[in-house]
Amino acid sequence: MDHRASFALLIAVAMLPACTKDVQEDLVADNALFALDLPAGWPQPPVPENNPLTNRSVQLGKALFFDERLSLGRGISCASCHRPGSAFSDSLPFSLGVHGEAGFRNAPSLANVAYHPLLLRDGGVPTLEQQVLVPLLDEKEMDANPQAVIELLQADAQLTAMSVRAYGRPLDQLVLTQAIANYERTLISGHSRYDRYLQGDASALSEAGMRGLQLFNGSAHCSVCHSGPDLSDHDFHNVGTAGDGTADAGRERITFLSEDRGKFKTPTLRNISRTAPYMHHGGIATLEAVVHHFNSPPPEAGMQSLGLSANEEQDLVAFLRALDNERPLDQVP
Ligand code: HEC
Ligand code: HEC
Repeated sequence: MDHRASFALLIAVAMLPACTKDVQEDLVADNALFALDLPAGWPQPPVPENNPLTNRSVQLGKALFFDERLSLGRGISCASCHRPGSAFSDSLPFSLGVHGEAGFRNAPSLANVAYHPLLLRDGGVPTLEQQVLVPLLDEKEMDANPQAVIELLQADAQLTAMSVRAYGRPLDQLVLTQAIANYERTLISGHSRYDRYLQGDASALSEAGMRGLQLFNGSAHCSVCHSGPDLSDHDFHNVGTAGDGTADAGRERITFLSEDRGKFKTPTLRNISRTAPYMHHGGIATLEAVVHHFNSPPPEAGMQSLGLSANEEQDLVAFLRALDNERPLDQVP
């Protein structure tokens, strides 16, 4: 080996660790875990072992969530029915899909979905990853062929680069579902006037709101089902909204058990003032009417009346209005 060659080799060897180190650091930074801004005392949401909640995955997921190419460019994205300004819900009883046709259920808020053990109002889907394909395939929602969607997205160099950096390979169906699921996991809602009140700020609730909170946990029995940080037990109950259950049998559609007819998942009450209309059918327009429904249930519901006065109904509504998040749900830059 002549002098110059050995010198060049020396340089190369000296540079080698530095180069790989840079690249490695870059990748490590990319795939660092997303620093979820969780309210005090909340546990980390569960995440599947094969889909860590990395910075790059949530950024890719956010891009895809707002991308109308998921409906083959026909004007519908996930955000059409799950709008950031409405706590990732919308304001129609039934959302309209690509063909302008209404679906059969009201679009729920996506706040805190990371903590739901089962998804959809009947609990028919077990993971956020699997849920992504439901609206994609539903002819009353995006009515798209996943393979055609993937081909459309793969033609986008920037998305391909984001996918490679997040998951080490170009965009495919698995990456699509994993990235969107991870973005959804970041939609945390636990910063409301109610939370400040719990943390000791007595002025965070109005007098009416404080009376409402007492009723909520006391004689109105709301917290039997609307419990815990998400104000939901994430379980299924019949609260007299399904009529005879022929229009929508609720949980019975999944379990085939007649005792589950008319049962729906308890919705979160976070941001509830922003997600009207209410219930699985979007058939109750205001919070006042929802509270009245629980106070004086329809006779066929077989539920007991609560016997609250008109003032007490208003106090409950004042409390519900204190559950709006005071910062945006979206934490992804
Ligand atoms: C056309 C309107 C529409 C579009 C588009 C849409 N959704 Fe939904 N979404 C709904 C409706 C309606 C439901 C309730 C369906 C049910 O319970 O059967 C729902 C339910 C969900 C749920 C379950 C929430 C819970 O509380 O269990 C998740 C998660 C979700 N959607 C995510 C998405 C994602 C991700 C996309 C894009 C890939 C998307 N949605 C596109 C209307 C829509
Ligand atoms: C037995 C369990 C249970 C009790 C008790 C209960 N709820 Fe609910 N709540 C539910 C279920 C289940 C739904 C969804 C029904 C549906 O989708 O048709 C619901 C829906 C709601 C909604 C509409 C949410 C939305 O996003 O559409 C509000 C608001 C609400 N409840 C407030 C209350 C208040 C206030 C009380 C006390 C007066 C109360 N609930 C008592 C289970 C319960």
